Amino acid sequence: MARKMLIAGNWKMNCLTADGTTLAKEIARQVKENKFDCEFLVCPPFTLLAMVKKCLRGAKVALGAQDVHFADKGAHTGDISPYMLADLGCKYVIIGHSERRTDHGESNELIEKKVVAAHNVGLTTVICIGETLEERENGRTIQVCQNEIFGSVPEDATAKNTVIAYEPIWAIGTGKTPTAADVEEVHAAVRKALAKKLGRSTAEKIRILYGGSVKPSNAKEFLALPDVDGALIGGASLKADDFIEIAKNAPKLK
Ligand code: PGA
Repeated sequence: MARKMLIAGNWKMNCLTADGTTLAKEIARQVKENKFDCEFLVCPPFTLLAMVKKCLRGAKVALGAQDVHFADKGAHTGDISPYMLADLGCKYVIIGHSERRTDHGESNELIEKKVVAAHNVGLTTVICIGETLEERENGRTIQVCQNEIFGSVPEDATAKNTVIAYEPIWAIGTGKTPTAADVEEVHAAVRKALAKKLGRSTAEKIRILYGGSVKPSNAKEFLALPDVDGALIGGASLKADDFIEIAKNAPKLK
């Protein structure tokens, strides 16, 4: 089963109305003007979702959020429900990013609850996993990533509603990256864990993105790897030209 590449931008806590509008419009313009073999996703902060949705009109770029609460509605001050995201036109939501795991103490159990809630309203989840530098140095990378898969991916997850993003924590925003061989080893192990949990046929269809200091100069090497089905891009997604340049390196299908 062929997997279509997904090029996803995680804007994190960046952009106000003015620069967010400019960025979204420029991405939309370039996506419309060029022919791409991949799918696009942008995940702005909650405050810009509605505005970015408007800016993307007519361009094949999906809208996603960066987090979600597991409850449908109710007394959860400051939180955003899956229904609210769907109502705004979101198709995707990033869940369990390492910055959420660290800043907000999110556990695999909580992440799984959020994933289930998001799936229930038809959102596709981008579930993030990845090891710390200490875990890597102790040779625990594969074990940590597989445990995160077992703990945070629900048993009924499908290739349609689930994307995995492998992001080594030490590579996020640092300019450091694992070698291509290291990335392929982890992605293959993640697919193996998915096969154990969801069955081989589903695992073969699920997209596994690489994230962590992806930029135009290293995109080709990572995107060419057999088990890498796209990229989750932080810093470089804030520059339309870089984001688009990365997408130009995406092969047609895996
Ligand atoms: P980075 O972030 O591309 O800035 O390293 C990736 C991410 O955290 O999703």
